[in-house]
Amino acid sequence: MTLWGGRFSQKLDDLAWALNASLPVDQRMALQDVEGSIAWAAAIHQAGILTDEEHASISTGLDTVRKEFASGEFIFQPADEDIHTAFERRLSELIGAAAGKLHTGRSRNDQVATDFRLWMLNAIPELHSAFINLQSALVEQAEFAGETIMPGYTHLQRAQPILLGHWWLSHYWALKRDVERLQDLTKRVSVLPLGSGALAGAPFAVDRDSLAKSLGFAEVSHNSLDAVSDRDFAAEYLFVCSMAAVHLSKLAEQIVLYTTAEFGFFELSDAFSTGSSLMPQKKNPDVFELTRGKAGTMIGLLTGMMSTLKGLPSTYDKDLQEDKAPVFAATDTLLSILPVMAAALRTITVKPERMRGAIDSTMMATDLADYLVAKGVPFREAHSLAGKVVRAAGEGKVRMEELPLEAYQTISPVFEADVYQVFDPLESINKRNTVGGTSLQSVKNQIKKIKGE
Ligand code: ARG
Repeated sequence: MTLWGGRFSQKLDDLAWALNASLPVDQRMALQDVEGSIAWAAAIHQAGILTDEEHASISTGLDTVRKEFASGEFIFQPADEDIHTAFERRLSELIGAAAGKLHTGRSRNDQVATDFRLWMLNAIPELHSAFINLQSALVEQAEFAGETIMPGYTHLQRAQPILLGHWWLSHYWALKRDVERLQDLTKRVSVLPLGSGALAGAPFAVDRDSLAKSLGFAEVSHNSLDAVSDRDFAAEYLFVCSMAAVHLSKLAEQIVLYTTAEFGFFELSDAFSTGSSLMPQKKNPDVFELTRGKAGTMIGLLTGMMSTLKGLPSTYDKDLQEDKAPVFAATDTLLSILPVMAAALRTITVKPERMRGAIDSTMMATDLADYLVAKGVPFREAHSLAGKVVRAAGEGKVRMEELPLEAYQTISPVFEADVYQVFDPLESINKRNTVGGTSLQSVKNQIKKIKGE
């Protein structure tokens, strides 16, 4: 039996029923639904709708429902349309007629929005700690890296030498923005829609402020029409998850690349690598590839949500029932990726000699130009002179540091014997000592800042 059958003479078609039902998805908000109902019962009791006995009986009944659900004893019936109707049905079995008063002044429209927000307020701290764990793994690796140097790339072409620690931390800072976005989002999730009724508000003297307080919301919504249709928080949550997934994908892509034989900068622990069913020698970075792949799926969830919202008229429309599955899926995806990434990065083997071996002196060509600048040559001219040195070395098939001083002086008399010092990559790195640069001091400062926060 549905909770809305009064005006109908025919029961809903079976296939239409199945399409309409959302129980498989929304039973994930079961505990939030009970919590919301307990608070609502208290609010309408206070407003004089429920007697003391009715209130006590509803509260006890809801507590039983909660216990039944938590212990796995709750039995859903084929006619349960969603978690809200399932619990109301069970409550009436448990306590009889008083159960029929619980929904006074409330609609599933404000109820579902409340449950969903409560669910998200629980999920955010869980995601938050999963991010922090991965960030800690990155910082540990950065500290461990010390003076290990690696080639830095732009356009995936060797560019300038950098510290490995600087590279690890680059991923830390991106994730920090994700964590900040998640925290900032909380204030928009923490707005109570309950008391908005179906769309126009509740006709009883419900104290929504105490209702909000009792459920842990920071504030109440201020327009009932907006409150039952607002899913900005869901779209925003999916954006935060998608942005994070894009960051994780970037990190993953680099791990995939750097664990190839061609780069050989890292080796994954066996515990986080997979084999090939055909090629016995293979050691594949599947977990990183999946991380990269799932970012695509995640963006699809965000796009889907935005498309569902686009073009909806004001207040509740059944389209909004589509809101929960993507949010749950995005949460599950991140909660499955983040701990695996953290553990895989904690157990990765760094190959400093391979990283060092991939640095050649052309990567210090900028330092060569800077050397001339220090001797008074304007940068544009210095850039061109350093370029000539690169060309001379290339034509002579020698490294830049192997060119004799005369060759340098033919290009410019400003070059002196001290020019060869520019080819030390660690020197080049430590010269980049501005805030946020790759110098050892700067990387230490980053770690200090991170730890001080
Ligand atoms: N299962 C519905 C949902 O998730 C609950 C709200 C139903 N409201 C309605 N007016 N039919 O959106």
